[in-house]
Amino acid sequence: MKNTDEIIEKYRKAGKILSKVRAEAAKKVVEGASLLSVAEFTENLIREKGGEPAFPVNISRNDEAAHSTPSFNDKSVFGKDMVKLDIGVHIDGYIADTAITVDLSENPELVKAAESALGEAIKFIHSGVNTSDIGGVIDDTISSFGFKPIINLTGHGLAQYIQHAPPSIPNKRMPHGVVLEEGDIVAIEPFATNGGGKIHDAGSAEIYHIVSDRPVRHPSARALLQEIGKYKTLPFAKRWLGERVDFAIVQLVRAGVIQPYPILKEIKGGLISQAEHTIIVTQDGCEVITR
Ligand code: CO
Repeated sequence: MKNTDEIIEKYRKAGKILSKVRAEAAKKVVEGASLLSVAEFTENLIREKGGEPAFPVNISRNDEAAHSTPSFNDKSVFGKDMVKLDIGVHIDGYIADTAITVDLSENPELVKAAESALGEAIKFIHSGVNTSDIGGVIDDTISSFGFKPIINLTGHGLAQYIQHAPPSIPNKRMPHGVVLEEGDIVAIEPFATNGGGKIHDAGSAEIYHIVSDRPVRHPSARALLQEIGKYKTLPFAKRWLGERVDFAIVQLVRAGVIQPYPILKEIKGGLISQAEHTIIVTQDGCEVITR
């Protein structure tokens, strides 16, 4: 289905808000600052500028790749970390998605590897390009720095209220790809590591999403479901729901109504850097809406 001009304008508006928010948020990431203060600052700024967070701000450190966000009353602070901020804004469900690495760990080459891979991929994209070849460009660029891409994380398409829609944009060459067409809206997100090049689920979750509209009987679970309905199919943070929601959350997970996003970590404990932009594919290139 083709996006109308009106819809494309909503993506662009989300992207414009997001690029300003990313710049402001990155400045807040300093040694000793609390993760919770950065998350709340970022999410509030999105709302102030007329958008909504498309998902909880992901603040992933060091060997964490994604799905880490502070808990309610979280006390953790930044140290000499490699920090990834992954931020999303939506306007009526139309999402722009971006990520930046703020390096407090003194590993500039690793950051450059992910950023260069994103830059090369953006230069390479045009209508008719195969996603497998984009993966090849990303892999080749990261490898040229002596690092590895994270091969089981990918970029992705975006659709209304769906932040991971097809097609996936691999971070290495694949046997089969998909041909991108003019008007396709996708997020390109290379991850680079000095570790093994893969991530695994590391348990513990602060981020969830609704996966079924099956009825629930327990009153507290029902009340919570009513509250989270406004997020539709988008991810939400447990900390957005107040302090005493653990029981209701467990009930909703058991009933198969919501699912957690476990934190993803590098298999060998390697440091991970990330860069991400959302783009609209054009006839002879692409328009970066989060620059
Ligand atoms: Co993304």
